[in-house]
Amino acid sequence: MTGPRTVREYCLDLLAAESVGGKLVPPDGLLDIAPGPAIRVDSPSRPPGLTIVAGRQARTPSILGMADPAQRRRILHAFASHELQAIEIFAWALLAFPDAPRSFREGCVGIIREEQAHLRLYMDRIEALGGHFGDEPVSGHFWRRVPSIRTPLEFVCTMGLTFENANLDFASEHAAAARLAGDEPTAAALDRVRRDEIRHVRFAWEHLLLWKEPEQTPWEAYRSNVSPPLGASRARGATFDADCRRAAGFDDEFVTRLASTAPERPGGATR
Ligand SMILES: [Fe+2]
Ligand SMILES: [Fe+2]
Repeated sequence: MTGPRTVREYCLDLLAAESVGGKLVPPDGLLDIAPGPAIRVDSPSRPPGLTIVAGRQARTPSILGMADPAQRRRILHAFASHELQAIEIFAWALLAFPDAPRSFREGCVGIIREEQAHLRLYMDRIEALGGHFGDEPVSGHFWRRVPSIRTPLEFVCTMGLTFENANLDFASEHAAAARLAGDEPTAAALDRVRRDEIRHVRFAWEHLLLWKEPEQTPWEAYRSNVSPPLGASRARGATFDADCRRAAGFDDEFVTRLASTAPERPGGATR
């Protein structure tokens, strides 16, 4: 008889999994005992077809592609790839930061569960459009930033307050485009993801408040804990949904400053 698994064992298995099913094993009944020492996994094992390739080999169509089902499927494939990376990177954080407080560790486990639900939602939509997750090359857009993350505070600034923060806008922009194209199920999936991501961003915001230097405002603390090329210009879309940010708990300074920051694409071009 084996006993309940620990968070550490679960995360190691998840990062070593070579099937999509292995990435989707729910984090049920885990015990968070004996979490240390810290392990920094450089890159995840992947199922066949989902090996990470260079960004230039995994181009994603612009939002205009949402009008065409074949291009929409490719965009959804990129979103599914982001969810897979999120699942893995929250597992990475649990291994890298064994001494982080319980609120952080329990939060990461809960977020893995929701990222898994998002991946399933997008996989269903890809299949409804005649594709399969693994049909398109995938980039390591989030994984590329992992080596520069040294602390749990830098982690929440990178994942929560940059990538997931920007996704609040991307999800609503793409939901609107899916609706315009008459694809209500895809729009509903994107809406569901955005609702959940508000909570993920809130988790990051609350830990920013917990860990920032007392004399820093949250905006200052964010800016000093996210390393270039990431930063505020990558934490929003071409549109800016202030209500989502307020729902995530952001203070007025953070909302105002982010709203007045020009959005940039990876590579530095204007969004
Ligand atoms: Fe997600
Ligand atoms: Fe998320």
